[in-house]
Amino acid sequence: MPSTLVADSVHAGYDSAPVLRDVSVDLTPGGVTVLVGPNGSGKSTLLRTLARLHDPTAGAVTVDGEDAGRLRGRELARRLAFLPQGSPIPAGLTVRELVGHGRYAHRGALGRVRAHDHDAVDWALEVTGTTAFAGRHVDGLSGGERQRAWIAMVLAQQTGVLLLDEPTTYLDLRYQVEVLALVRSLADEHGITVGLVLHDLNQAAAYADQVVVLSDGTVLASGTPDQVLTGATIETAFGLPVHVVAHPLTGRPTCLPYGSPAPAAMAS
Ligand SMILES: Nc1ncnc2c1ncn2[C@@H]1O[C@H](COP(=O)(O)OP(=O)(O)O)[C@@H](O)[C@H]1O
Ligand SMILES: [Mg+2]
Repeated sequence: MPSTLVADSVHAGYDSAPVLRDVSVDLTPGGVTVLVGPNGSGKSTLLRTLARLHDPTAGAVTVDGEDAGRLRGRELARRLAFLPQGSPIPAGLTVRELVGHGRYAHRGALGRVRAHDHDAVDWALEVTGTTAFAGRHVDGLSGGERQRAWIAMVLAQQTGVLLLDEPTTYLDLRYQVEVLALVRSLADEHGITVGLVLHDLNQAAAYADQVVVLSDGTVLASGTPDQVLTGATIETAFGLPVHVVAHPLTGRPTCLPYGSPAPAAMAS
């Protein structure tokens, strides 16, 4: 059975400033859920709250039916892996060493590496197509290779849920599609429940089972790309007029912006 990750009426913020207000999200089990929304709308805060790196001030996050707040660090890390936005490039580490860091939650007493840790690392390298450069240093890789190495690291954690914050940002189009195809295969071939943040609405439409639109810390809409990616919803969220057409080859919604942003959106 694929893993489940559910946020139920979650509120969260920083010090006294609330960011997320009454957010309920149910990641598609064994599928791909894409979070979209304007800068500052709370996407990263939501992902961190789902990963329990950030405590909700109200509401609950549930992993496989269990309150995530009650799970200890290692127990949670065996169920859920999270790749933050723009992770720094580690100097002097090989790809295999980086991916090995994904095993920390599984190591035995004294942090000993066991045979199944090596198997998990080999599997993660294989799935992400990084085996061929496992011995190279991470800082000498291209952007796309490096991003796949990072994803291999969180995959080595062998969790049922994977959360990725903007895994395609700063990649050229080819590498973006490469990472998105990898994400799709993690759900389709390995039954992993994936939640990720993307900026490109057309890529969200092409790769998501479920799209969640965040606006000013609340869920403006959630559902299939067809249900959610309408001109009215996008215009409300981004303050920009958008014409939505069916992609000529796939039939998926395709957003064509036109005109000028509304003044309020330009200010944020
Ligand atoms: N560590 C932090 N401390 C205080 N405020 C923060 C912090 N991180 C984010 N915020 C604020 O929370 C809001 C949502 O930010 P974020 O979740 O990063 O949005 P997004 O990922 O959608 O761009 C913004 O107003 C941002 O300034
Ligand atoms: Mg963010």
